[in-house]
Amino acid sequence: MKNLAGKKALILGIASNRSIAWGISESLKNHGAELAFTYQNEKLKERVEKLAGECGSDIVLPCDVSVDGSINQMLEKLSGRWSEFDILIHSLAFAPKEELEGNYIEKTSKDGFIQAHSISSYSLLELCQEAQPMLKGTNPSVISLSYLGAVRGMPNYNVMGVAKASLEANVRYLAYAMGENNIRVNCISAGPIKTLAAAGISDFRKMLDHVEKNSPLKRNVTIQQVGDTASFLASDGASGITGQTIYVDSGFNIIGMPSID
Ligand SMILES: NC(=O)c1ccc[n+]([C@@H]2O[C@H](COP(=O)([O-])OP(=O)(O)OC[C@H]3O[C@@H](n4cnc5c(N)ncnc54)[C@H](O)[C@@H]3O)[C@@H](O)[C@H]2O)c1
Repeated sequence: MKNLAGKKALILGIASNRSIAWGISESLKNHGAELAFTYQNEKLKERVEKLAGECGSDIVLPCDVSVDGSINQMLEKLSGRWSEFDILIHSLAFAPKEELEGNYIEKTSKDGFIQAHSISSYSLLELCQEAQPMLKGTNPSVISLSYLGAVRGMPNYNVMGVAKASLEANVRYLAYAMGENNIRVNCISAGPIKTLAAAGISDFRKMLDHVEKNSPLKRNVTIQQVGDTASFLASDGASGITGQTIYVDSGFNIIGMPSID
């Protein structure tokens, strides 16, 4: 059943067809939603336009969340095509590569800390502040992406784990604040997936192997699985769910000890 028919979704965070945002786009499209996209910079423009075309969309707008006014300008342009929309996907994060390896206390700089928090967490607040007047459908839904490093110590994830903890708290406060306008805000905590952003994390291959070996389902997750969970959260079927972190990680977050060979 096309349970997102009639809904419009704005998607931030496509860098390639491996991006989690792309898995979400395909799923939202398959469930009947109409899509609009943003790209971070000129280097990504053509690629995002091509992927948008595959979803039947010609709404592709620039937005670099680290630039003051960029979110506002993007929404201003969007309002020329859509007066309102139902689904907002925030699938982006950044921390300096050199801070995503080694010892947290030795590797983390003040600038890196501020940049990671600003791009990966604050941007969700700014997006919600600016987009709230346009989020007006039957059951509007905002969805962001987190990782287990928000709530557990992890090798190399370092400042990004602290920024994801901020993001998850941000989701709860936004859910509280936007609930009075019937807008739901949730995040999906995805297991490790090989994407461009993931390539910046030292020893990422070992994370994939560890989840495959030790998670209850004994496999890694795909961008399609994350996408289908986003489609559920965006649907009227999830109209009672807000402020949550939903794990799509083959159950890895529940284990207390690695498998014994
Ligand atoms: N890949 C994983 O293992 C994994 C696991 C859990 C959560 N996540 C999260 O999923 C989200 C998407 O990442 P991905 O793995 O699909 O990687 P990706 O590299 O495909 O996507 C990251 C996106 O962030 C965007 N971005 C970075 N800085 C930006 C800025 N200043 N303005 C606008 N956009 C900016 C990039 O353009 C890119 O599209 C991120 O929040 C990431 O932390 C990833």
